[in-house]
Amino acid sequence: MNETVLVVDFGAQYAQLIARRVREAHVYSEIVPSGITAEEVLAKSPSALILSGGPKSVYETPAPSLDPAIYELGLPILGICYGAQLMAQQLGGDVARTGVGEYGRTALTRRGSSALLADWPEESECWMSHGDAIAAAPEGFVVTASSPQAPVAVMENVERRLFATQFHPEVAHTERGQALLANFLHHAAGVAPTWTNTSIIEDQVELIRAQVGDEKVLCALSGGVDSAVAAALVFKAIGAQLTCVFVDTGLMRKNEGEQIEETFTRQFGVELIHVKAADRFFDALAGVSDPEAKRKIIGELFIREFETVARDLATSGDGPRFLVQGTLYPDVIESGSGHAANIKSHHNVGGLPEDLSFSLVEPLRSLFKDEVRRVGEELGLPSEIVWRQPFPGPGLGVRIVGEVTRERAEILRNADYVVVDEIKKAGLYRELWQSFAVLPAVRTVGVMGDGRTYAYPIVIRAVTSDDAMTADWARLPYDLVERIANRLIREVDGVNRVALDVTSKPPGTIEWE
Ligand code: XMP
Repeated sequence: MNETVLVVDFGAQYAQLIARRVREAHVYSEIVPSGITAEEVLAKSPSALILSGGPKSVYETPAPSLDPAIYELGLPILGICYGAQLMAQQLGGDVARTGVGEYGRTALTRRGSSALLADWPEESECWMSHGDAIAAAPEGFVVTASSPQAPVAVMENVERRLFATQFHPEVAHTERGQALLANFLHHAAGVAPTWTNTSIIEDQVELIRAQVGDEKVLCALSGGVDSAVAAALVFKAIGAQLTCVFVDTGLMRKNEGEQIEETFTRQFGVELIHVKAADRFFDALAGVSDPEAKRKIIGELFIREFETVARDLATSGDGPRFLVQGTLYPDVIESGSGHAANIKSHHNVGGLPEDLSFSLVEPLRSLFKDEVRRVGEELGLPSEIVWRQPFPGPGLGVRIVGEVTRERAEILRNADYVVVDEIKKAGLYRELWQSFAVLPAVRTVGVMGDGRTYAYPIVIRAVTSDDAMTADWARLPYDLVERIANRLIREVDGVNRVALDVTSKPPGTIEWE
């Protein structure tokens, strides 16, 4: 197994970013809450610790602190921003409320030779975000860089392998920030860069085999990235012991079912049960236009369809006892505020009846989304699946505003295909968080050729975002919008008008329902 670096989360939005940067340096990292004790740290036998930034001042009460016994464990530690000030304060230095902070791009001057800033130019730019500043480094530390408002921008105690930077090496604006992290990890802390896609796959294959033995395993494929990569990993581990189920709700994207069949059945040779349930979904949705009611119907029917397959398999003797879930690391991180880990309930297969109690197999539990995609590529999944944008569980059902009918779903599916096709041709698909079509179920008057039309509008929705919590509407080039609009009217029967959604989130949501 790989060496681990623990990132202690002091409540900054930066902790996840630090963890990802460490992994980019090919070292496995985990985020732990700031309340972690020295004993708990030892139990995880990490190779090094990084203390994150945080929104508090070390002078506030209560302000998160670090169990002082952790400094005595002899582990290499890098403190960043708040983590740096905390280290200074706890080890006998001085943190001052200067009243003059530094925010954003800041000039950094290196002072003398430095283990942490090896090969750095004397002058460089870094990214700062602090009010207080370290005024005096603790005994045994050498100050190796400063900025206009931070006399101690970097301090080091090479003998004890304790380092601290007032600036944020994890953000892209800090020139050479990634080099600093790599230097801390590989040289100061002596952790080898062995964590790679190949090692992730090897580790998981071993863990999956150990967990399930020769039992059968079930996996619900949704068409999305996570379930596809999870299934491919489990298949690599246990081959024919895996059965996949794909419930076609009639509300999937164009060619989604065919692509799953092509990849999993023909390419990998996975046993795939393709449930063609579209009729039952449209019947259940007839006459329903309330968004929440639609979601509930789709969610419940999905579970029922999946349950039917699971029950059939379970009653056929040695049915599956394990269920694969594509849970990702951000869903299970314990945050600095100490919230318990929560498990994503995508499609809520965890909501199956009690007599169908599965043990969960979650091979992506320690991975961030970009890592999942890279593992997927390495496993040989097609890039259309690996790089697919997020798609809501209820599918096109929440993009038809009003009653969901077979006809409207077909129009929207074709329209969505055109939007995505043009976005891909423009080279923008991977830059956008999501880009899709919405069909408000109102009809408007138009004119085409000599005739009057009375058909649906399509709304183009494209957003940029990092995590879907907030989003900005994407400034698509007008000539691209024009190409999409022309094709929608020309190629998609039932559409005679196109609009562009220019609402950010908040106040809007990404989906229309
Ligand atoms: P909103 O519309 O709330 O969406 O801004 C935020 C993100 O969540 C996705 N989404 C869903 N995903 N089941 C899902 O698995 C759902 O019911 C669901 N509703 C919204 C949405 O596509 C966006 O990425």
